[in-house]
Amino acid sequence: MTERTLTPVVTGRWGSPTSWTLDTYTQLEGYTALRTALAADPDQLIQLVKDSGLRGRGGAGFPAGLKWSFIPQPKPGEQATGAAAKPKYLVVNADEGEPGTCKDVPLMMADPHSLIEGCIITSYAIRAHECYIYVRGEMLHCNRRLHQAVAEAYQAGYLGKDILGSGFDLDVIIHAGAGAYICGEETALLDSLEGRRGQPRLKPPFPATSGLYAAPTVVNNVETICSVPYIVNGGSDWFRQMGTEKSPGPKIYSISGHVQRPGQYEAGLGITLRELLDMAGGMKGGELKFWTPGGSSTPLLTAEHLDIPLDFEGAAAAGSMLGTTAIMVFNTSVSVPWAVMKWTEFYEHESCGKCTPCREGVYWLAQILQRMLRREGTPTDVETMLDVCDNILGRSFCALGDGAASPIMSGIKYFRQEFLDLCAEQPDQPGLGSQGRLTLVESHR
Ligand SMILES: Cc1cc2nc3c(=O)[nH]c(=O)nc-3n(C[C@H](O)[C@H](O)[C@H](O)COP(=O)(O)O)c2cc1C
Ligand code: SF4
Repeated sequence: MTERTLTPVVTGRWGSPTSWTLDTYTQLEGYTALRTALAADPDQLIQLVKDSGLRGRGGAGFPAGLKWSFIPQPKPGEQATGAAAKPKYLVVNADEGEPGTCKDVPLMMADPHSLIEGCIITSYAIRAHECYIYVRGEMLHCNRRLHQAVAEAYQAGYLGKDILGSGFDLDVIIHAGAGAYICGEETALLDSLEGRRGQPRLKPPFPATSGLYAAPTVVNNVETICSVPYIVNGGSDWFRQMGTEKSPGPKIYSISGHVQRPGQYEAGLGITLRELLDMAGGMKGGELKFWTPGGSSTPLLTAEHLDIPLDFEGAAAAGSMLGTTAIMVFNTSVSVPWAVMKWTEFYEHESCGKCTPCREGVYWLAQILQRMLRREGTPTDVETMLDVCDNILGRSFCALGDGAASPIMSGIKYFRQEFLDLCAEQPDQPGLGSQGRLTLVESHR
């Protein structure tokens, strides 16, 4: 047994048969928070979410209520001008492209109405009358499920004109994205939603003042929005009973890799990997060697870090980031340079090409790693990679560049010798070439 146990909140309905239907949702308290919210003042709702301390679940952990409060609103009794006079938009980021992240899709598949209810409450709070859910296009099943749920909600009067007789109107539009990782970055997502090629925008201006169609826009992750109805029903104090002081609430931890029972584990923020592994049945096929706390963009950690609190502060104090809490666990059979090469190939492929450090740097990093894995590395390769990373980290246009540098820099920090060993001269094995690479890769599958 672990000291801390699971706290199923946003995953609470997942076990119910036909949990995705409107009937089941309403039987299990669905749309009750909406009635409460529509009877409240929008600013009260923003204050409630601020008080709850809910932080964005899409990676950066920005306080959700604070983000909503940045949307310019007309002053009472005054004529709206500037951004306050423009329409407001809510955009839900359902792109879920970070390697290892697999929480938003199950959330939308099992409980799409909780997302819709969260969208209505959030839109009401920020005074938006149009909400877009940007879903990765390849996730056809998820697109279909959302379309079905939205149709049910319209039919039942939860969407459309004069919702539940409140006078509030809202349309929800499901938009299928075109499958680029960069389209999960909020400003690239907005460009993609407007029909352009998805590339990040210069910030400022931030989406809160100039987002979709240059109008005030809130962009929030699926899990963030799904948390909102529970906060309305349970209150901010109830929400703060879970998690830690600065990172309150429950969080879905997605555990994959060498564990007995991979899957989604919802627990209060601040739980440790040791506790999560215990719940997931322990390691599979060998001891823990390295892991990512929040997807491949977050610096990897080792067995030394089994007891760090997995909240925003704890992960940062250990030199990493909480990211999307996509915990990928690797046992001692895995070569760190090989795993790092696979991630780097992903970033090379997904770099949008807008800025030079990422476009050129990540390409060359992938070339060096591939050469190393063919046992054709040179003694200076490790230092060259660190130098290239240094020119990417903090110097790229968006956070994809930083994410690409993370596995390499952290991999070398903890496992430098593994990289150096691949660069050592191989006198007995001249021209090992691609055969050597294949052997190495296969041995780690
Ligand atoms: C390359 C890149 C990819 C991203 N992909 C996603 C994603 O798939 N889903 C997501 O919610 N946020 C993603 N983000 C973070 C978003 O830019 C943004 O911070 C988030 O949607 C805000 O929502 P939140 O405040 O609710 O976390 C990505 C960021 C970057 C730099
Ligand atoms: S860091 Fe990479 S993904 Fe981001 S703008 Fe530059 S090239 Fe594009």
